[in-house]
Amino acid sequence: MARSAASFVCQACGARTRQFFGRCSACGGWNTLVEQRDTAVDNRRRRPVAVASEAEAPRRAHRSEPIASLGETPLQRLTSGYSELDRVLGGGLVPGSLVLLGGDPGIGKSTLLLQSARAMAEHQTVLYVSAEESAQQVKLRWRRLGEAADAGQATPALSLSRLQLLAETDLELVLQELEVLRPAVAIIDSIQALHDGELASAPGSVAQVRECAAALARIAKRQDTALVLVGHVTKEGLLAGPKVLEHLVDAVLTFEGDRFASHRLLRAVKNRFGATHELGVFEMRGQGLAEVSNPSELFLGQEGPCPGTATIVACEGTRPLLVELQALVSPTSYASPRRTATGIAVNRLHQILAVLEKHLGLPLSRFDCYLAVAGGLEVEEPAADLGVATAVVASFRDLTLPAGTVLVGELGLGGQLRQVSQLELRLQEAARLGFVRAVVPRGSGLGAQAAFGLQLLEAGSVAEALVAALGVDPAME
Ligand code: TYD
Ligand code: MG
Repeated sequence: MARSAASFVCQACGARTRQFFGRCSACGGWNTLVEQRDTAVDNRRRRPVAVASEAEAPRRAHRSEPIASLGETPLQRLTSGYSELDRVLGGGLVPGSLVLLGGDPGIGKSTLLLQSARAMAEHQTVLYVSAEESAQQVKLRWRRLGEAADAGQATPALSLSRLQLLAETDLELVLQELEVLRPAVAIIDSIQALHDGELASAPGSVAQVRECAAALARIAKRQDTALVLVGHVTKEGLLAGPKVLEHLVDAVLTFEGDRFASHRLLRAVKNRFGATHELGVFEMRGQGLAEVSNPSELFLGQEGPCPGTATIVACEGTRPLLVELQALVSPTSYASPRRTATGIAVNRLHQILAVLEKHLGLPLSRFDCYLAVAGGLEVEEPAADLGVATAVVASFRDLTLPAGTVLVGELGLGGQLRQVSQLELRLQEAARLGFVRAVVPRGSGLGAQAAFGLQLLEAGSVAEALVAALGVDPAME
């Protein structure tokens, strides 16, 4: 008989104690400890999965080797069928690796993975485990997605698809299916809905998620299956479940977007096989997600220049994006002026307004200021500073920037303009999209030939940059 042991696990951080405390001693969370049967005992008891022990035994007797003499096997990649997804993965799925895909409900995680599974199943066996939706629901969606894909392709070959569907929430059955089928790729939608019958806690709890993910990881590594897990996010937008889940997997991708806009952004937060901060852009259409290979067009206004708008080049990983900023500055009727910013941290806006007030003498503290990034994109980089400053001043003075101007530069608190990273890449993208003029920090070291046909206006301070961009001195009344 197995010893019946109990332990208490913090639902916030995964820490484990033998005794109940009102407050978790590891993370300080209140009322987060939940009683659980000891999983270590349960694990020993669990029936070993068929092939495990014998096949694994000889491999365990590994010795260390000099790193220089180790042979290098080039990393194999399975293309996901979508180049935007492949880029974020670092070139495709790696066999035996684990990828966690997180995102708000309804953002399109299941759609993305089903579409990709569909494409991948043309060349290899793919198992799609739907723990949230019934087989019928998935089939309906599969059909809906297929209509779009088949319209563009000469060979529908639906009957040849090697996509296997399993609508199941029991971990044991999913593991068995993985062993029998030995798919090249397996998709678990979602890890929170899976449930290990040997644990008493409810599906989605820390212990359940951790145990399920660990069991799946073991089997995926053993049979070289690329495993993709869908994860829920919490109210705060963080991946739900224990932090250990993020350590366990090789890559963490997040799928995000504005519910009211149709585009979706896929990012890598962690990637053991590629660069993080790569960006993939999709658009949700009536028949699934379509790739957007030229996203700058999405974030540029179509109306042409008007007062209070400025275009910047933001860099997402290695991907430059032209983005339009809009500012509205109007006299305030409150004691303290209103400042709101969408798509940019409001503290950044405060800081830029303070710099403008101090160094250009603009009385902005008597004005409300609203700032928005077009297209619902989040811009975090300081390279957007000059664009924000220009949009604000242009709105304040009711000036319009000459068409075809981009602004790149970080603002120092002393009003100086600082260098930004990847300037060449940004300018190249601006030139490609038909921009003719760029205001950049002085001393960027770019020769005329590196400016890709753009007229470069170099400035050492925000005041100089604004004169160069707007053609008038904004500080003069
Ligand atoms: P879904 O993939 O179910 O989201 P998640 O798995 O992240 O919760 O996406 C569902 C949303 O996408 C739903 O609101 C409907 C919409 N949608 C489309 O607009 N077009 C489509 O072709 C599909 C399949 C879904
Ligand atoms: Mg879903």
